[in-house]
Amino acid sequence: MDDNRILDPNEYQGEDEYKSLRPERLKEYIGQSDAKEMLGVYIKAALARNEVLDHTLLYGPPGLGKTTLAKIIANEMGGNIKIISGPSIEKTGDLAAVLTQLEPGDVLFIDEIHRIPRYVEEVLYSAMEDFTLDIMVGSENSARSINVDISPFTLVGATTRYGDLSSPLRDRFGVVLRLDYYSVDDLMMIASRTAKVYDTDIDDDACKELALRSRGTPRIVNRLFRRVRDFAMVLNDGRITIDITKHALAKLDIDDKGLDRTDHKYLEVLMKQFKGGPAGLDAIAASIGEESQTVEDVYEPYLLQEGYISRTSRGRVANRKAYEQLGIPYMKGLFE
Ligand SMILES: Nc1ncnc2c1ncn2[C@@H]1O[C@H](COP(=O)(O)OP(=O)(O)O)[C@@H](O)[C@H]1O
Ligand SMILES: [Mg+2]
Repeated sequence: MDDNRILDPNEYQGEDEYKSLRPERLKEYIGQSDAKEMLGVYIKAALARNEVLDHTLLYGPPGLGKTTLAKIIANEMGGNIKIISGPSIEKTGDLAAVLTQLEPGDVLFIDEIHRIPRYVEEVLYSAMEDFTLDIMVGSENSARSINVDISPFTLVGATTRYGDLSSPLRDRFGVVLRLDYYSVDDLMMIASRTAKVYDTDIDDDACKELALRSRGTPRIVNRLFRRVRDFAMVLNDGRITIDITKHALAKLDIDDKGLDRTDHKYLEVLMKQFKGGPAGLDAIAASIGEESQTVEDVYEPYLLQEGYISRTSRGRVANRKAYEQLGIPYMKGLFE
């Protein structure tokens, strides 16, 4: 995929680790009021009972604040957080080693938890259920399994693909929270918070413009903020105005609704080459020279959410909104 795609909601190398940009406590976490409220109650109750928080599964598209929330849980519970990533765990022993080193009250955060190999995943079942592990010791003919205790801990899992989780794993989470795309108001608050952290002046209308073009995603609003701030420094002594914002976003090829060149390419292919669809994912992906999986995970979710396209049993269909946004005449109704 286009390595410089500024609207890719996945993290670029290390970009989220500007520590001060990540809210550290629940009350600083903007938006997601349902998830925040429920989590607040469960955390308070667990602390009052002097217990660990139930295992918590966070799911939703990339860049919406899953890792941030996992760190907040550890902070609020007063434990340490150990972070591992599903695909990086190859052997059951790797996971067992991590589990046995946890201290009471720690959070084990497993990112992309749907990508843990199934045979490794089984180690988690007893660990989650009663804080024990079955470990094989000895060699071939003297091999036996021993049961060891591990510290009470909270597993926080994050996934962009809830449906890919096995049901035994899913069933072991006491708390399941879905994160949704953020409202424009929430994104404005995030942008102005980011401006404060960077000690930058930003006008309200500029803030709103950034929010409108960030596809409901905090990671993207922060990323656009940094780019626009560069333009403001060079062209305007650092103050971010609406004119600077529009100028910068135009240079970055991001349209008034936050769609970029790749979105346009996708929609154009669907509307022109496939006559508005229905067209299969693989066919569209091939036409724009991308992997199907990338198209499905990175490009389509926002187009679907905003109603530019729909998914039908026979494939993807372009909606009127897409024709209007790209200025292509909508002919469909004429023949129906
Ligand atoms: N609710 C929020 N309030 C403020 N900033 C947020 C919020 N959620 C996410 N962010 C910002 O967006 C960036 C991406 O969030 P992250 O937790 O890494 O997303 P995910 O793990 O879901 O991909 C973080 O660096 C953080 O600065
Ligand atoms: Mg993350």
